[in-house]
Amino acid sequence: MSTSAEPGRTWPLVGRAAELDDLDDLLATTAGGDGGTVLVEGEAGIGRTGLVEALASSARLLSLELRAARATTQRRAPFTLLADAVLTHPPGVGARGPVEAELADLLDAQRTDAGRERAPLAAQRTARATELFAALLRRRGDSGPWVLVLEDVHHADAESLGVLLDLAHEGHLPGALVVLTMRPLPSSPELSGVVDAWVRAGARYVELRPLGPVATVELAQRLVGGSVGPALRGTLATTGGNPRFVTDVVRTARSAGALETRDGVVDVQGSAWLPALDTVVRGRLEYLDDDVVDLLAHASVLGTSFVVTDLAALVGCPLPDCWRTLRTALAAGLVHARADRLVFRHDIVRGALYAGLEERRRRAMHARAAWALREAGAPTQIVSQHLERAR
Ligand SMILES: Nc1ncnc2c1ncn2[C@@H]1O[C@H](COP(=O)(O)OP(=O)(O)OP(=O)(O)O)[C@@H](O)[C@H]1O
Ligand SMILES: [Mg+2]
Repeated sequence: MSTSAEPGRTWPLVGRAAELDDLDDLLATTAGGDGGTVLVEGEAGIGRTGLVEALASSARLLSLELRAARATTQRRAPFTLLADAVLTHPPGVGARGPVEAELADLLDAQRTDAGRERAPLAAQRTARATELFAALLRRRGDSGPWVLVLEDVHHADAESLGVLLDLAHEGHLPGALVVLTMRPLPSSPELSGVVDAWVRAGARYVELRPLGPVATVELAQRLVGGSVGPALRGTLATTGGNPRFVTDVVRTARSAGALETRDGVVDVQGSAWLPALDTVVRGRLEYLDDDVVDLLAHASVLGTSFVVTDLAALVGCPLPDCWRTLRTALAAGLVHARADRLVFRHDIVRGALYAGLEERRRRAMHARAAWALREAGAPTQIVSQHLERAR
């Protein structure tokens, strides 16, 4: 798979040439004075930050000012995301204008009075700050084209989303390329409203897809600095093309001392490093609610793919409840539908969840799976495989 060969990039991204070309075109349009908006969505670890970092280095080449901020679960006070992006000035850059000063005062007052102030006053302040942020962002392009990157808007505070919604109703910001990145989860009506409004306003929607098998191996080769042997390729094939899992595989193998080079080929030796990998991968699921992870752990007992009714019988939960939880896993991109089954998108996740089950519990789950599958009319051979593992 091709890689962007443009000079000035801090590092080459693998397998994202089309997306980078698209963004570079939009940057060029922005440099010419027009506005544009891009929504970049994709599962956890798929490479959204990598893509916007590549965009940032292109912006530097075009001398476009870049303002960036990232929403987090810890900092969700009103307007945090937008204040981080446009109210903080890098040392020596730009003085505060009157709008910025008024905004800073409003936010200070809001912070000081939080919890104490009467609702009407708080609502008035929010309305005024919304208006000022919208005006500030719309006018900023008057003094030259710029780029605004707001990362992880799935965690954005409601007030920043409110400003983004208002802005969408007036179309692209003049002289600005606005890039919003998000995971598919957690979703909220507020965020969906912002996304829909921007799509209607003509925003480009970029869904970052998994890397293909060739790009997956290419990324691993970059990371190990050589060609990759068959055992390592085998583990890489379980990553589902998710670059974070690819880097997890290589880093974990390396820090466990499991990487060896022979005749110029780098490969993993033995399986002693795999429990560490399972732990890392399970850690990557921490953003999900426990019920989702627990249900997927049950599903891991059924295999790489499973029938929803079998899973419901195994867990002993009503089908609608089970399905509701599975829909979250589907939205997160951890499973996908294939005919009448759901399939784990990354076998590395299934393996890690399975390995994380306490042994007695795992055996009990296999025994129950044997029963559930027999009831559902599964072939004897499958049922006996579960009985075997239940011992
Ligand atoms: N196309 C790529 N080529 C090379 N490395 C990549 C690519 N995409 C992602 N990576 C690497 O994979 C890891 C995960 O990528 P990144 O942090 O960009 O994902 P993300 O979608 O922003 O994740 P999160 O959901 O946690 O925000 C990083 O180490 C990044 O450098
Ligand atoms: Mg990121």
